[in-house]
Amino acid sequence: MKDFVDFDTKNKPRPHVNSLVRLHNDFTLEDRIKAAEDAGWNGFQFPSEMLRGGDLLSDSGTTTLTVEQFAAMVTGDESYGSNWGYFQLLNTMADVFGIDLDEWEIFLFHQGRAAEHALFTQIGGEGLIVPSNNFFDTTRANAENNKIDARDLVDTRVKHDIAHPFKGNINLEKLAELLETETKNIPMVLSTITNNTGGGQPVSMENLRETKKLCDKYNIPFFLDACRFAENAWFVKTREEGYSDADISDIVREEFSYSDGFTISLKKDGLSNMGGLLAIKKTSPLMKKHPNMLENIRDHQILVEGHPTYGGLSGRDLMTLSVGLETVTRQDYLDGRIGQVHEFGRYLKELGIPVLEPFGGHAVYIDIDRFFEGTNIERKDFGGITVTALLLLKGVRLCELGAFAFGTFNPETGEEIFPEHNYIRCAIPRNKYEIQDLYYVADCVKGLYDQRHSLPKAIPVYGKDKTLRHFKARFELK
Ligand code: F0G
Repeated sequence: MKDFVDFDTKNKPRPHVNSLVRLHNDFTLEDRIKAAEDAGWNGFQFPSEMLRGGDLLSDSGTTTLTVEQFAAMVTGDESYGSNWGYFQLLNTMADVFGIDLDEWEIFLFHQGRAAEHALFTQIGGEGLIVPSNNFFDTTRANAENNKIDARDLVDTRVKHDIAHPFKGNINLEKLAELLETETKNIPMVLSTITNNTGGGQPVSMENLRETKKLCDKYNIPFFLDACRFAENAWFVKTREEGYSDADISDIVREEFSYSDGFTISLKKDGLSNMGGLLAIKKTSPLMKKHPNMLENIRDHQILVEGHPTYGGLSGRDLMTLSVGLETVTRQDYLDGRIGQVHEFGRYLKELGIPVLEPFGGHAVYIDIDRFFEGTNIERKDFGGITVTALLLLKGVRLCELGAFAFGTFNPETGEEIFPEHNYIRCAIPRNKYEIQDLYYVADCVKGLYDQRHSLPKAIPVYGKDKTLRHFKARFELK
């Protein structure tokens, strides 16, 4: 009998079936135009219930929970102190991250940036540098708010190589040079896995290992921003020599074995809607320099989040996290998850849309400079905003992460200062969409691409001079 089914199939089933669905409400084009105008054509301000097909604004906190998570949620213990789910979560973390709870201090927060805030307020100061592959924007903001020079050292030598397997790697030569010349001013080194700002690109295990070696040489702690630790592990397994037979769980444990501490937004690979974490190894070199650090973070946590055993989360959140962390390292889950992101990217490319390659783990990035090449839309016209704004009318939401989001307005010269990259990010929520939703998104992008010579410019009418302006600005399309 076995011989009859000994064939491969082009299509693979998803790793799950739907158990609950949310029906779309009906809206007309006129409803959407009115809502988009009210929102100043800013996607963040556009009501999500008017979206259809794809809300790809973020992959953060947007996960569809599994029935196993819902079942666990019911058993959540909402006690003010020492709820039992907390202890269960600690044990899950110890197992998933491969850490010994006697050697590590764990701090729960309501989300990633609160954990980053707690860390950087302790170690910050004038003249200090924290090197990283790339800082995520809130991580950078938290570091800079504490006078830290947040230094991006991603390896740009492979920037144009569309087949490079680990474009998220830190440039080890540059790191070695900086550690040598600025040893005293570097409180820690940080690697973001996967590298969200750099296009969701993975970091190789070799790069993590070598970064740790360099850090050890100078007795400097090595931290991870580990929001997408499981997706990174999937890339290590599928792309790095020597790992094809390894279990994802073991690869994850190896990733964390090189760290002296880590922050995580559990809204990504925690497969949950809320949650953040700061973990610090008690033997980390940080402790010598900041002997009161752990105590201070505890106090801060109690002041702003709550008792350490819930840290800004409900007992129900803790339960979804426990189950989520166990699910996220499953090979079938990750094959389905990243396979879907890559199929979406492949289809966009087939349609002729200029995309960043290789595709990331959680998102596909559209290159807006190439999108508008040969048209009269220049960077100062914010074509990425035009595309994201008009897509709202088709019920699709993407995120401009380019000339507007990362650019700044200089009030003295009246000029815009542009960032290195000009992208739109299509971030795919976990377990939420079927591939036809994403095909629809791609078809809508193509519909606008075909009209790229006649699309309007986006004129900021409010907020171009504000900090974090992409969240607040209003536009007119002309
Ligand atoms: N670090 C990275 C690499 C992130 O991608 C994010 C969030 C954070 C830290 C902060 O975590 O949102 O829980 O406070 N990224 C989301 C995104 C918002 O859309 O990429 P948070």
